[in-house]
Amino acid sequence: MPNLAIVGYGKMGKLIEQLAPEFGFTVALKRDLEPLIAEDFRKIDVAVEFTAPEAVRPNVETIASFGVNLVVGTTGWLAQLEAVKRSVEQNGTGLVWSPNFSVGVNAFFRLVADAARLLAAQPEYGAWAWEIHHAAKKDAPSGTLLKLVEEMRTAGYERQIDVSSNRAGMVPGTHEIGFDSAADTITLRHIARSRESFARGALHAAQWIVGKKGCYQFSDIIFSGARA
Ligand SMILES: NC(=O)c1ccc[n+]([C@@H]2O[C@H](COP(=O)([O-])OP(=O)(O)OC[C@H]3O[C@@H](n4cnc5c(N)ncnc54)[C@H](OP(=O)(O)O)[C@@H]3O)[C@@H](O)[C@H]2O)c1
Repeated sequence: MPNLAIVGYGKMGKLIEQLAPEFGFTVALKRDLEPLIAEDFRKIDVAVEFTAPEAVRPNVETIASFGVNLVVGTTGWLAQLEAVKRSVEQNGTGLVWSPNFSVGVNAFFRLVADAARLLAAQPEYGAWAWEIHHAAKKDAPSGTLLKLVEEMRTAGYERQIDVSSNRAGMVPGTHEIGFDSAADTITLRHIARSRESFARGALHAAQWIVGKKGCYQFSDIIFSGARA
C-alpha cells in the first residue's frame, strides 16, 4: 500500500486520515507544526497538505526538495503559485492543487463559466458572487469564490462582479453566482453538505499523482483525463 503523509492535522487532516484506507493508503506520517525532516519522508509516496495560507510555500519547497509528490488543499496562497510551481518543477516532483476538491464544485466552475460566456454580451445583466463559510475559516473571500470570479473573467464577462462573504456558525461552504436584469434573475448555487467530499477529492488526487511529475489542477484530472 502506498504511504501517505498528512501535513496539517486539523479538521481536514483528521478526515483524510479517517478515509485514507478506503483509497488504499497507509497513513505513515502526520505533521502539524513540527519541522519537516527529510528522514521522516524517506518512505512517503505522496503528502497531502491542508494547513494555512502562509505555510504553503515553505511546505511545498521543503517537501518537493525531499522528492515527494504533493496534494495541496489549503486556500488563500495563490499569489505564491508561480514560486510553488517552480520549486516542484526544479525538483522533478508532482503537485495537484485546488481551492476546492469537491467534484461537484469543479463541475460548478464549468457551469458558471458557461453562464458568464452567454451573458458577457448581454449588458442588461449585472452579476454578483457570494459565499458563506463557518466562523473559523481564515481567508475571505474563499479561494473557491475567487476561482469562480476568475472563471467568469476568463469566459469574457468584463463588467463589475459584486463580491461578498459571510462567516458564521458551522457552514461547510455555500457559493452562489447570480445574474440580474430588469426582466429576471438567474441564480447558480452550490451547497456543500459536509467536508467529506473535499477529503475524498484530495485522496483521489493523491492516488492519481503517485509516480507522476508536473503541476496539475484537480479539474485537469477529473474532467480532461490529463496524463503526466
Ligand atoms: N481545497 C479544499 O477542498 C478545501 C476544503 C476544506 C478546507 N480547505 C482549506 O484547507 C485549509 C485547512 O482547513 P482546515 O479546516 O483543516 O483548518 P484547521 O482545522 O484550522 O487545520 C489546519 C491545521 O494545520 C495546522 N498548521 C498550521 N500551520 C502549519 C504548518 N506550517 N505546517 C503544518 N501544519 C500547520 C494547524 O495547526 P494549529 O491549529 O496549531 O495552527 C491546524 O492543525 C484551509 O486553508 C481551508 O480553507 C480546502
